[in-house]
Amino acid sequence: MKQYFEFINSVKILAGDKALENIGYELDFLGSHRPLILSDHGIKKIGLLDDIVEIIKDTGVDATQQYTDIPPDSSTTVINDIITYYREHVCDGIIALGGGSVIDTAKGVRMALSQGKQDIMSLAGNEIIKKGKHIPFIVLPTTCGTGSECTSVAVIKNHSTGVKMEFISSELLPDSAIIDVRLTKTLPPKLIASTALDALCHSIEAFSSLQKNPISDAFAISAMRLITQNLLVATTAPTDDSRIALAVASTMAGIAFSNAMVGIVHAIGHACGGEAGVPHGNAMAILLPECMRFNLDANKETYEEMLVYLAGPNAFASTPADKRAERTIQFVEEFIDTLNKQGILPTRLSDFGVTAEQLPAIAKKALNDGAIIVNNKPATLEDIMNILQKCL
Ligand SMILES: [Fe+2]
Repeated sequence: MKQYFEFINSVKILAGDKALENIGYELDFLGSHRPLILSDHGIKKIGLLDDIVEIIKDTGVDATQQYTDIPPDSSTTVINDIITYYREHVCDGIIALGGGSVIDTAKGVRMALSQGKQDIMSLAGNEIIKKGKHIPFIVLPTTCGTGSECTSVAVIKNHSTGVKMEFISSELLPDSAIIDVRLTKTLPPKLIASTALDALCHSIEAFSSLQKNPISDAFAISAMRLITQNLLVATTAPTDDSRIALAVASTMAGIAFSNAMVGIVHAIGHACGGEAGVPHGNAMAILLPECMRFNLDANKETYEEMLVYLAGPNAFASTPADKRAERTIQFVEEFIDTLNKQGILPTRLSDFGVTAEQLPAIAKKALNDGAIIVNNKPATLEDIMNILQKCL
């Protein structure tokens, strides 16, 4: 165990049946009666925003302040627009209803408002963002992957340069996260698979990173179990139980990696997204087995232990001790392959149009990605190229 470590998760989590009905109480407790609801066109189109607004209205809260123009790849300009909207409409809190882009946008807005800033860029590059004015902030996640509702990270694109900037501060943690099965009910199997694979990656990388600690391990282990026990059900014959299990797993994996960080899968995945537009969850699913193979010698003991969490006690007991690490990787491969056979989870980078000519630029970018710093095994440019070629 590490000699010293820190762990933070200050987010109150309300999960399960009728969790959404608690939103009025939560807002009142936090001192917000005129929140700004942030969402996107997709959520509005499927009627989920209206459903949530009805629930909020029933609690006597003014739910008329809404901003739903958040694009999939939000930016500093969008955040600055929302800051203006918030001030002009005299709002007193923020509700984020959506996936990663909506949540990260809301985090940026909240952080700038709490620091009394009009332009989020004025906080870029700040190593430490100190506690500012409290802005009540509740997150309602609509995917089961990012875990962003419980991470102290926000990824925001610089509108002028196109560069994705990472803001890291405990000031980004929301006050509350509401996990309710109604929020992921319309998520199609393809998105369930790719976002849950992102969460699986968060838990596996957090459990094997240089920055892991016993508390982050506890969250990572529970997340792994829930994902492998529920994902195949949720993509074939979804039940409320399987959906809520994945949503809770995603939150727990978020708590784990927010403290333990991730590793080489995310470093290469970020680069695949930036250079070739590969969707994040899909990049994770494609890269995970090969990256685990690369890390095998450094992570042997961790992978041996992981077998029981991923595959269950019978698989663990029936596998000789010296074969458990390799069996863990095989299990992950077969798990992803099952989803691939359902036609919902591509397993090659070329499925997303990536070409061999793009690989050197992707590898170079991955080598400079912050996530690689805590990978348990150092990687060279050649190592990353090898992984990429195997995944092409
Ligand atoms: Fe991720």
